[in-house]
Amino acid sequence: MTPLRRIWEARVYPHLLDRVCGTHAIAVERRRCIARAVGHVLEVGIGSGLNVSLFDPSLVTAVTGVDPSAPLLARAAERPSAVPLELREAVAEKLPFDSGRFDTVIFTYSLCSVDDPAKALLEARRVMRPGAKLLFIEHGRSPDPVVFRWQRRLTPVWKSIAGNCHLDRDMPREIAAAGLTIEELGGYQDHHRAGRLSVAYVGVARR
Ligand SMILES: C[S@@+](CC[C@H](N)C(=O)[O-])C[C@H]1O[C@@H](n2cnc3c(N)ncnc32)[C@H](O)[C@@H]1O
Repeated sequence: MTPLRRIWEARVYPHLLDRVCGTHAIAVERRRCIARAVGHVLEVGIGSGLNVSLFDPSLVTAVTGVDPSAPLLARAAERPSAVPLELREAVAEKLPFDSGRFDTVIFTYSLCSVDDPAKALLEARRVMRPGAKLLFIEHGRSPDPVVFRWQRRLTPVWKSIAGNCHLDRDMPREIAAAGLTIEELGGYQDHHRAGRLSVAYVGVARR
């Protein structure tokens, strides 16, 4: 990693992430999503921990968060949490956990950034107990072909400045391809931040 990239990832990106992923519209979606977490929760790509304070201690016994970024994990560790919180430096594509361990797995705005979403989702499925749920809020491929073309054009530049964030991934298709059953699927557009390029998929899938 070049020194400039190291400074960007340690000093600039965590602040950028808090701003871009901390809008009012996103906060509303986060609260709704996290309220449905139960039992032992795994949050994949926990980042700076914008969900950490939202877990309900009457429903959630513990939260384990993984992320490859040490600066982001350090920020997450500073957030107040009403449930026991364990943070691990790890990637979604190779989770350091036994199979069938978690009751809920959460991805919020992290499947866009992993290197291999198919592998990440297969790993998520592996560590879910049978019947466990996957909660997700992920932006991705627009249903509008014109917007999708722009998403594809802009992704190479955008991912180089925004922590590998891809604009054009087909999230529902990726989730279903991993053998998870999508039970609920909704969406919203964050007009405030990224206009029509930011189409989000919100839902619940089950193992
Ligand atoms: C846009 S941020 C979202 C962070 C957090 N989930 C949230 O809702 O605010 C994307 C996150 O994915 C993480 N990430 C990138 N590659 C990853 C990988 N291979 N495995 C797990 N997390 C990854 C990044 O470090 C970053 O924390």
